Amino acid sequence: MSKTQTIAVLGAGTMGNGIAHVCARSGFNVLLCDLQQEFLDRGLATVEKNLSREVSKEKLTRQQADEARARIATTTDREALSACTFAIEAATEKFEVKSALFRDLDRILPAEAILASNTSSISITKLAAQTQRPTQVIGIHFFNPVPVMPLVEVIRGLQTSQQTFDTVKALAEALGKTPIEVNDAAGFVSNRVLMPLINEAIFTVMEGVATAEAVDQVFVLGMAHPMGPLTLADFIGLDVCLDIMRVLHEALGDTKYRPCPLLIRMVDAGWLGRKSGRGFYTY
Ligand code: CAA
Repeated sequence: MSKTQTIAVLGAGTMGNGIAHVCARSGFNVLLCDLQQEFLDRGLATVEKNLSREVSKEKLTRQQADEARARIATTTDREALSACTFAIEAATEKFEVKSALFRDLDRILPAEAILASNTSSISITKLAAQTQRPTQVIGIHFFNPVPVMPLVEVIRGLQTSQQTFDTVKALAEALGKTPIEVNDAAGFVSNRVLMPLINEAIFTVMEGVATAEAVDQVFVLGMAHPMGPLTLADFIGLDVCLDIMRVLHEALGDTKYRPCPLLIRMVDAGWLGRKSGRGFYTY
């Protein structure tokens, strides 16, 4: 993929602004699109903060950070994406939202454009079926914090072409990431394995086996995880964890994927983790 092409990034939230950040940092022009100017302003402020963090850690010069920032344009108008030949969707993790967005992108973007989704659990094959170009639809799953985590899961839908796969693999490498190939199945590899771990950790708290702090310490000190599963759940967002557990439970049908009742209650209470100020910890 040439760096003269503009990558459309749909959604300026945690994942979307991180994706815009790494694309711009690697020399691509980015058109960041969200429903409201307020969301775009918040996303750009996060990009600026994280670029400055990279300058202070001497990973980038001030000039490189400023040039990266200048490569990101914003819009609230999806029609403005009509010249983009690559789109990365990072909208809310709801099938109805993403499927409507894919229908729009299919209508607006040029016929040759690739439509990639950063979904963490929704079927790429189902998203592809919303479009007239299922061979050009693929999963490109980044990890939070996007500027830091080296992995990208590249997910082949049933109809994804080899050419689309090769283009996305090369893009991930151009972004400084390591692409890992995965086939389309609920939760792919990352969340199929991670979310049941987090869910089980929540069961241990609910059943009084240990406190949240103690559960986290077991994983930090005993297994060298950078953060324990409950700190990580707060970091990811408890609503996101619950949505993914529901996808796993519905798609795979095994009771081992049933969401922990404590997780459901916390989400019902609006305790969504770091972003809402309260989860297993207070922020
Ligand atoms: N942008 C740029 N750089 C960032 C950053 C950001 N948003 N956040 C952290 N950093 C950098 C810091 O500058 C620092 O750089 P140096 O190593 O050069 O000093 C480095 O990352 C580590 O940061 P900190 O020292 O501030 O903090 P830390 O050592 O506690 O690490 C962490 C923070 C990287 C988040 C670490 O705790 C970690 O790796 N946690 C696990 C994260 C994880 O598992 N993510 C995956 C979640 S699952 C997911 O995203 C997918 C899904 O579908 C749900």
